[in-house]
Amino acid sequence: MIVGIPVELTQDELRVAATPKTVKRLQKQGFEVHIQKGAGTRANFSDKSFEEAGAKIVSTSQEIYSGADIVLKVQQPTEAEISEMKEGLVLLSYLWPAQNPDLLKKLADKKVNAIAMDAIPRISRAQKMDVRSSMANIDGYRAVIEAAFHFGRFLNGQITAAGKVEPAKVLVVGAGVAGLAAIGTANSLGAIVRAFDTRKEVAEQIESMGAQFLTVNIDEDGSTSSGYSKEMSDEFIKAEMELFLEQAKDVDIIITTALIPGREAPKLILDYHVAAMKQGSVIVDLAAPNGGNCVLTKPGEIYTTDNGVTIVGKLDQLPNQASQLYGNNLCHLLDDMGKAENFKIDMEDDVVSRAMVTYNGEIHWPPAPLPVSPQKPKPVVKELTEEEIKAAEIAKVKKETMSMFIRLAIIGALLFLIGQFAPADFMQHLTVFVLAVFVGWQVIWNVTHALHTPLMAVTNAISGIIIVGGLLQIGDDISSPLSILAFFAILVASINIVGGFYVTRRMLKMFKK
Ligand code: NAI
Repeated sequence: MIVGIPVELTQDELRVAATPKTVKRLQKQGFEVHIQKGAGTRANFSDKSFEEAGAKIVSTSQEIYSGADIVLKVQQPTEAEISEMKEGLVLLSYLWPAQNPDLLKKLADKKVNAIAMDAIPRISRAQKMDVRSSMANIDGYRAVIEAAFHFGRFLNGQITAAGKVEPAKVLVVGAGVAGLAAIGTANSLGAIVRAFDTRKEVAEQIESMGAQFLTVNIDEDGSTSSGYSKEMSDEFIKAEMELFLEQAKDVDIIITTALIPGREAPKLILDYHVAAMKQGSVIVDLAAPNGGNCVLTKPGEIYTTDNGVTIVGKLDQLPNQASQLYGNNLCHLLDDMGKAENFKIDMEDDVVSRAMVTYNGEIHWPPAPLPVSPQKPKPVVKELTEEEIKAAEIAKVKKETMSMFIRLAIIGALLFLIGQFAPADFMQHLTVFVLAVFVGWQVIWNVTHALHTPLMAVTNAISGIIIVGGLLQIGDDISSPLSILAFFAILVASINIVGGFYVTRRMLKMFKK
């Protein structure tokens, strides 16, 4: 089977649907890859690099659309491109089906089997194919970098010999994938970050990323079973706007990411919000391609208002990395569809059936809602008063102390009993050993999970001492009980040390950039 990748015709589109790395991966999946000359140039991938990866370079889009069985694209195809497509072609691309009924009709008329990558359902199995998430993550990061550039001041606070610099204040509206990435980036650059979302479930995520979760005084939740937000009541939006007015006067940067699937972006930053902002402030509107969250956004443009607020309505997409992630998403989907050998359009499959917007000349949109697994009823937890919490803590400490004394008493009694029969020399060693085990147990048991890595270092040090002790005890007679015991002590301690280092290495790797 041939997979084809054409040049993206949209002028502002810098990404390409495959990279040399994904070309190699597609070939491993059994596909032959054809790519149009110059398709990767704007994302910094040369034709030569594609050729070296094993792709065949073709000169025209016609050769791609009529020769390939599957076409990978980023932007929705134009009318001219559709006219070049052969019947039965499988197209994987952004299509925005809810906003583009005409496009679906044209594709269906041409009997193109089109998969809208933006319609991949938000289920755990499909996370690896979710282009909206992988691209939103990049956008969130990029929004902060763009804002910092236009803001022209430090984001972090500093105390220097020349004077004190206040940290910038950033408001993030909408804490989905892009919003959370923006919060993380702004926070890591040292800004004071606040965030607002209609879905209350994101409060914890916002706080764990280091931002303050802002709320309005209205009991309404935007969460839905699909993971997306629903449209909020007028009363809620009014309260939200009042909150934003207060914030607009205070913050330096506003990053908006609020979206409702299949609708134009909600207008949340109005002209009076912009008017209230300080001169030099910045608004980055990530919802610009969907109409913008700010009424003054000019999609595709960056400009400064009369009162000195820069409004960013276009973002550079980090095309090289974005292409790689987008290409990976496509490869994952092709993996799921059976690769080249068993390639199949399975309309029973939860992911394919919902993203396949035209199939065998018919339009399949909107898709059937995904069955939602019934939620378990939450256990009723009684709220405790402060006195009750204190009393419970005292009872817990009393119980722990009591059980420690009982254990100590049992150990003492056992030592006394053994002491009646065992030689004095043995007793001395046994007492030290038992006390060491007891103290060690008490120390380790009470260490919080967050400190387990340093704890592992301590146990490694102890294991080291055990090995030295074991080596000193192994005598000439390797079959004596003492030598056998020493050998096992060395073996177990070595396993502990090697395992400890291995686990620590893996943990450290997780934090390495
Ligand atoms: P999105 O791009 O559709 O919307 C962005 C954010 O805007 C959402 O958090 C939404 O609640 C918020 N929003 C909408 N109206 C608003 C308003 N009036 N004011 C303030 N905020 C408003 O959402 P995105 O980023 O694509 O994902 C939303 C959620 O979907 C994620 O947080 C996650 O829970 C879920 N998800 C699940 C995935 C999976 O399981 N495969 C993958 C990605 C996301």
